[in-house]
Amino acid sequence: MLDIKSFIADRVSLMESSEIREILELTEGKNVISLAGGLPDPKYFPTEELAEISAYVIKEYGARALQYSITRGLREFRKEIAAFMERTGTPGEMPYNIIVTSGSQQALNLLAQVLVNPGDIVVVEKPTYLAAINEFKSVGALFEGIPIDDDGMRTDILEERLKALKAEGKKVKVVYTVPTAQNPSGVSMSNERRSHLLELAEEYDFLIIEDDPYSHFMFEDVDFKRLRSMDKYRVIYTSTFSKILAPGLRLGWVAAHPEVIDALEIAKQNADLHTPTFNQLIATEALKRGVVDRHIPKVKEAYKKKRDAMLNALEEYMDGAAKWTKPVGGLFVFVYLDENIDTKEMLPAALSAGVAYVPGSAFYVDGSGRNTMRLNFSYPDEEEIRVGIERLSQVVKSYVRGSV
Ligand SMILES: Cc1ncc(COP(=O)(O)O)c(C=O)c1O
Repeated sequence: MLDIKSFIADRVSLMESSEIREILELTEGKNVISLAGGLPDPKYFPTEELAEISAYVIKEYGARALQYSITRGLREFRKEIAAFMERTGTPGEMPYNIIVTSGSQQALNLLAQVLVNPGDIVVVEKPTYLAAINEFKSVGALFEGIPIDDDGMRTDILEERLKALKAEGKKVKVVYTVPTAQNPSGVSMSNERRSHLLELAEEYDFLIIEDDPYSHFMFEDVDFKRLRSMDKYRVIYTSTFSKILAPGLRLGWVAAHPEVIDALEIAKQNADLHTPTFNQLIATEALKRGVVDRHIPKVKEAYKKKRDAMLNALEEYMDGAAKWTKPVGGLFVFVYLDENIDTKEMLPAALSAGVAYVPGSAFYVDGSGRNTMRLNFSYPDEEEIRVGIERLSQVVKSYVRGSV
């Protein structure tokens, strides 16, 4: 008898499938309001402009748009990315500092491969982006989770941990952070802590990965500097066109020290040779025509309204039953429930009541956070947000009652 399982390599057991994807599959086609995913609102995709640009790219570039291209990404695209970074607060990037990736998810996958040996220590926020945890886990990283508060990562606690690890003869290799409008919490790291983090990177000799998909969607007047704009040596920056244009294009990038870029280029060659030429030309043209720059403020305004709708609904229906973050930007609110509630166990009841969320423990490297959940406000409309939170509150309240 053929035992197919025995053919699957051991490393697959280190890979975890994303809980969010599984939940999204469960909710598909049902009368469930999904506050689970992290999808942009498709109403705001610049569909017509992209239709026109796509036709133009095929006509204008013909075979070149359809041909293989270099692994690093088209030079004119990297130039446009550097110019975009320049005008949005991160100056001084050159095309040789940049590699184009197939979404920033690929950037995280490649960075994990080129930076982390099995047993290396990676620091992450607690909670943090779960797919980043999965990438680092799959290359055998050991984790240090550092709690966050309203000002982002507690760098004072990081410093204590770095000292303690040093005393044990151990060293942190990489700090992975989503410092601005974080996923899953929506909080941002204060500039003071950003400076502190960079000082610690010098003192304890580690690199920083700044994952930055959401900084163009800040709803409050928060003064923040990108870590990459403060240090071009120790900070590896990654961002994406998924939220500022369209995720289906699968376009992201890394800006880093040229030697890191060289290593990423080799890894990317093995992974997929290059990111689709056609899509790169479309985004280049969208940047040149100002489509991205015009698109951002429209989406930001829409998401701000939705964030307010979610905060208002939480206030109305969940007051006293939960606490939650007040996101300064991004796509998510993070909710803390009564300690007795396990949000993973509660999920089937919520799905039956017609609302989906992501159980928060997936965002904690140490498996804690069992009483937390992540709620998305970018995809549902304002009425769905209100009804979704009302349904959720009923489920939570019956759970609180049941648990005491
Ligand atoms: C913090 C963070 N990093 C990376 C990604 C990956 O995005 P993409 O591969 O679409 O660029 C996401 C997507 O939600 C994210 O939230």
